[in-house]
Formats: sequence, C-alpha cells, structure tokens
Amino acid sequence: MCGIFGYVNFLVDKSRGEIIDNLIEGLQRLEYRGYDSAGLAVDGKLIKDGDEEIMNNIIIKTPGKVKVLKQKIIDDEINRTDIFDNHAGIAHTRWATHGQPKEENCHPHRSDSTKGEFIVVHNGIITNFAALRKYLLTKGHIFESETDTECIAKLFKHFYDLNLKAGVSPDLNELTKQVLHELEGSYGLLVKSYHYPGEVCGTRKGSPLLVGVKTDKKLKVDFVDVEFETNAAQQQQQQANGHSSLLQNNHSTSLDLGFIPVAPGEQNLRTSQSRAFLSEDDLPMPVEFFLSSDPASVIQHTKKVLFLEDDDIAHIYDGELHIHRASTKSAGESTVRPIQTLEMELNEIMKGPYKHFMQKEIFEQPDSTFNTMRGRIDFENCIVTLGGLKAFLPTIRRCRRIIMIACGTSYHSCLATRSIFEELTEIPVSVELASDFLDRKSPVFRDDTCVFVSQSGETADSILALQYCLERGALTVGIVNSVGSSMSRQTHCGVHINAGPEIGVASTKAYTSQYIALVMFALSLSNDSISKKKRHEEIIKGLQKIPEQIKKVLNLETKIKKLCNDDLNDQKSLLLLGRGYQFATALEGALKIKEISYMHSEGVLAGELKHGVLALVDDKLPIIAFATRDSLFPKTMSAIEQVTARDGRPIVICNEGDAIISNDKVHTTLEVPQTVDCLQGLLNVIPVQLISYWLAVNRGIDVDFPRNLAKSVTVE
Ligand code: UD1
Ligand code: BG6
Repeated sequence: MCGIFGYVNFLVDKSRGEIIDNLIEGLQRLEYRGYDSAGLAVDGKLIKDGDEEIMNNIIIKTPGKVKVLKQKIIDDEINRTDIFDNHAGIAHTRWATHGQPKEENCHPHRSDSTKGEFIVVHNGIITNFAALRKYLLTKGHIFESETDTECIAKLFKHFYDLNLKAGVSPDLNELTKQVLHELEGSYGLLVKSYHYPGEVCGTRKGSPLLVGVKTDKKLKVDFVDVEFETNAAQQQQQQANGHSSLLQNNHSTSLDLGFIPVAPGEQNLRTSQSRAFLSEDDLPMPVEFFLSSDPASVIQHTKKVLFLEDDDIAHIYDGELHIHRASTKSAGESTVRPIQTLEMELNEIMKGPYKHFMQKEIFEQPDSTFNTMRGRIDFENCIVTLGGLKAFLPTIRRCRRIIMIACGTSYHSCLATRSIFEELTEIPVSVELASDFLDRKSPVFRDDTCVFVSQSGETADSILALQYCLERGALTVGIVNSVGSSMSRQTHCGVHINAGPEIGVASTKAYTSQYIALVMFALSLSNDSISKKKRHEEIIKGLQKIPEQIKKVLNLETKIKKLCNDDLNDQKSLLLLGRGYQFATALEGALKIKEISYMHSEGVLAGELKHGVLALVDDKLPIIAFATRDSLFPKTMSAIEQVTARDGRPIVICNEGDAIISNDKVHTTLEVPQTVDCLQGLLNVIPVQLISYWLAVNRGIDVDFPRNLAKSVTVE
C-alpha cells in the first residue's frame, strides 16, 4: 500500500546525501506494506529566477523497489555534499490505483514542469479528481501523469497564484486549507514548495499520518496546541463556501468566482502556540521531524510521536510543529494533540534469524498468542478481564445482535469464533465481509453491537463500514492489532490483540491472536452465567496450553517442507475440507495458499462436498482434510470416505496418535495436539500456514511481497 515519509531538519546541519539516505531508509521501513514504485523530492541549488533567487528542486522517482530508486540516485550523480541547516524532504512508495506503475505516475507530483513550485506526495484517493483535472486544464495547467494526486499539486499553485493576484502572500497552512476545501475522497499528504523553504504541511483524512519529533533536549510540554480558525477567517471561509468551491462555478472567468483570498490578517500569521519546541530560554532549539504514514519508519529515529486526526494540518516551520484546523472549535473538541511515547522496539519489526517476515511471524505464535492473553486471564481463578471492554459489557449483553465485520484473514477469525460466541452469549451473531455489508446497505440499529476485526486497523472497506455503523448509532467494538490506528481510535471500545507488528503481507500471527481475543470477548460477555461456568473453565484451561501446543505443531515444519517439495510443488490446485469449527480453518488455509504460492486452492465445507465439489475428486487432486476430534468428527470421517472412495488420497490433519485415520487410503497425516473444540482451529491452522509458506519458497516467490497484494489496503 502507499507509504509516505517526510524529513525536516532545523538547526541540525545535514548534507543532501544524509537527507536522501534518511528518506530512503524511511521508505525501506514502509516496504513491507507492498508497493510498486518509489520516489522522493529534496532541495537543489539556489538559482536566479528573474529578480528572485529560488531554490530549485530535485525529484527522483521510478517504478520498482526502493533499491531501484537508490541506484537511480547514484546513476543521476546527485550532489550529496551541500549542507542544509533547515530542509524539508518528502518521499513516497506507491501502489498503483490511478494509472500504471510507470515513472510519470510515481510520486512526488509537481505543480508545473518548469519550476515545480509545489511538490506533493499522497496516499488515498481523490474521488473528484476527474472534475478537478478538467477544471484545471481550462486554467492552462498541463498534466504530466494519469494520477488523481497531480491535481492536488496543481491546485496549490493555482491558489497560490490567485492569492498573489489579489495582493496576498498566503501562509502555507492557509493555502493548504484552500486546497483541502476542493478535495473529496481520502488523503494523507505532504506538500513542500520553494516558496516556503524548509517548511512542510502534512494533512490527513481517512489515511494515517503521524509526526515523530527528535530533540536533544526534553520537550517543554508533551502536547501541541490545536490552532482553530479565528472567527474572522471562518466567516471569510464561509463566505467562500457560500460562493462554493471552484467546481461549482461556471469557470468562465479567468479570475475564479469562488475564490476568496486568504484574509490579510491570516497571511503569514505565525502564532507562538507551539510551546513544546522552545528551549528553556524560549528560543528555538535544534530539532528533526519525521512525518510518516506508519510508526515503523519513525521508530529508529525517535519514540516521540504525535498522531494527526482527520482534517488536522500539521505545519512545520522554523523548528516548530503547529496543528491547524480549518474550522472554529466545536463543543467537546480536543484543543491539544498529545506527543506520545511509542512502546514498539525496532527489533520487533526486524526479521531476526528468519528468511522471511512471514516465517518469523509463524514461529512467533507461541509468544504472540501468549501476549494476547497476558494480564487478561487469571488462569487460576478462570477469570477473563478485558480492560478495554469492561465498562461496555452490560450494554453489549443487552444488544439485539452482534455483527462481526472484517476483510480477508480477519474475516476468517470471525467465522472461526462465531459459534462459540453464539453458544456462550446466546446473542445472534452474523459475520460480514465489509465490502458486501456496505454494498447491501445492511440495516443497522442503535441496539446492535458491531465488532470490527482488523490487523492494521486501516483497511478502507472496514473503516467505511465502521463509519456506516457509527452513523446509525450502533455500539462499535474494535479487535485491532495496531495501536493508534484509525479503527482503534474510532471505535467506542475494543481490544488490542497485542500480537506485535505483523510485516509479512500474508497474515498469520494476527489470525491466531484475533481468534483468541474474540474467544476472550465471548468469555467476558458470559462470565456471569452459572450454567456456562464449566464450559468457561474448560476453555480457559485450554487457552492456557495453547502457546505450548503451538510450539509442538511448529515441529511439523520438516515434514511439511518435504511434503511440499515431493508432492505438492507441481500441483495446480488444492482443496481444503473442514466442517464446524474447521470450516474457517479450511477457508483461511486456502486463502494463505493462493495469496502466497499462487496455487489455486479452495476451502470447502465438508458437508457440501456431495453437492458439487465431489466432481473434482480423483487420484490426482491434492486434498487437505481437517479431521480433529470434536462432535462433528464422524461426519468429517464420512466426507473423507467419500473422497477415498473416488481414489482421492487426502492429507489429513488429525489429533496425535489417531489410529482411525492412519490407514493406507490416506496420503499422509499431520498430527496436532488435541484441545477444546472451539480452540482446535488455533492449532490446525499452523500446518496450513507452513504449507503455504514452503510452497511459495519452493516456487521462488517473494513471500513477504506477493504480487498484486498489499499489507494494508487503504483503498476501497
Ligand atoms: C491497557 C494498555 C496497556 C496496559 C494495560 C494495563 C494501551 C494501548 N493499552 O491495555 O498498555 O498494559 O492497559 O492496564 O494503552 N480500544 C478501542 N478500540 C480498539 C482497541 C482498543 O477503542 O479497537 C480502546 C479500549 O476500549 C481501551 C483502550 O483502547 O480503552 C486500550 O485498549 P487495550 O490495549 O485493549 O486495553 P488494555 O488491555 O486494558
Ligand atoms: C489485505 C491483506 O487484503 O487485508 C490480508 O492482504 C488481510 O492479509 C486483509 O487479511 C484485511 O486486513 P486487516 O488489516 O483489516 O486485518
């Protein structure tokens, strides 16, 4: 997915080479999100422009990985030695949405090809870009790309020129407000300009953006004041709104009817509210700022970060960070943004001894599942306490129904736990794919509880579904891995699954942690039920053993590696059969296999086999069947019989030493320890994670970056 990184130094001398290295390193930390192009913009040299001296700029961009960009910078012989004591650089990794991954479509984008007055990087999608583009073309702007982003850069220049014509020299943040007024859709964006040397504005709406702050001295206060629009400026803006946006005019005049210049009082209005960044003697101090769409790229520089809210404009200049809003303060709106200390360690996001992040994350599951439960389950007294849900449990218990909403692997974790939710809570539960839920405009009511499950907390479909449910007054609960993510912040309450950063595009440890978090949620909801007490104890005792049991399952790796090598490698298709709790495992296994190894695979409900899929079965089609012991075991065995009767030789995932299964009709068995029925999927999924991993490695696939997929899909 697209990634943004920006770097600003103030009173800290940096050579152009060091600045470029910083930007490149920031982009490399974003690589795990999946992308197809990369680019950056830094200052060039002072040049004469008529009577003015301006800083020209250097934009380097290319399709391909960051290492290709790095090579291009070397090939272009960019001067590395010039020193800057104040500089703003911006960079981007792009995942194509509008326009192919080719050089002209890579970010950064510029306002004009002659001087490149404004330069922009952008995540998200501008939905009214076609209309903006059409309008800007009539104003003489020449487009160089097919992207939606380019119209943002053009708008900056357009407004800048209009302001100048009106005799006003606007402040960068005021100009940004004017541009944002025209944009529809979602964005996280950074803008720099030679008109504002050493400055950058960053803003977001529906796409994450944070600012890391690095100083030698302690910050005076650990927050930044929000600077709201003054009443006068607001009135002026409203007047402009009255005239409405550029697009609603007939565009026939050369001076835009809808345009109201920045209020004279607001031009270069620089407040002294940024209290955090002054030294003891109230003078500016040396400081570096790191703007990013992801904390993973900031953490090696600083742990002090500020998460921007939607519609915030972060304006960095003269060593200060100012947060602006384009509106006056409304009741209850926070007047500060805290500068938080991130707990994540850099080594948490590194590969360690493993070849791929996916492999590391599969092997981390004994720890990550333990961490999901840490401090939340009292195993001795069989009590589950979820701090983030405690106050909301009475409301949730009274709700009319629970709707679980998610995408991809997260959706499978909902399917895997629906049955235990229904059994323990006796509340009807439905499970929805976020996109389909929205497509159907499914009815949602105030007495519904909507549970959003997401590793990243940034998946666009899930966020839109969340907003849809919020608008209808439902209680929303997040089950999210990324602390500080949009979903974690926008839900009323929730549980952080605490699995640690997941970097491999194929989700593995997040699945098992989501599964456990959801089981703990169901347990919390029913902890006052006497009739469920025994079942509770059984599940909690089962949960206690899960991390150790996962360790045992991971020992199957050598057998699985051989199985993939000898028998599965050349196959074109694979079926996974499961029923009851194991249907979700079959779906998740099939998803893992297709996304990572590109082999067609399908999860099939064993009960449905005879209604169609059986036609595919012969002695060649590989089949994996989940036949661990639970109440549906006899039915699963009958499905396996149906397969073997047609010369199928299934690979069976069964419990340790299960003699019924081990017979010559079975290709091989993968034995896993037995646990409580509703937890068995936590163990059964591990062999299929390993199968997908080794199939992909054998096929020479870049496991952490499978083609066409992104870790965090922030577009619909
Ligand atoms: C919290 C702390 C944890 C500390 C523990 C000790 C955080 C992030 N967690 O964990 O470091 O060790 O207390 O008491 O500070 N939330 C949502 N939506 C979501 C996820 C969470 O609104 O999708 C909310 C929760 O309702 C809660 C807060 O975020 O208010 C923190 O959630 P969580 O980390 O799960 O809470 P604790 O386990 O109590
Ligand atoms: C993407 C990922 O499609 O988003 C999947 O490739 C993931 O692995 C899905 O399951 C949902 O993501 P999230 O972050 O909402 O759990």
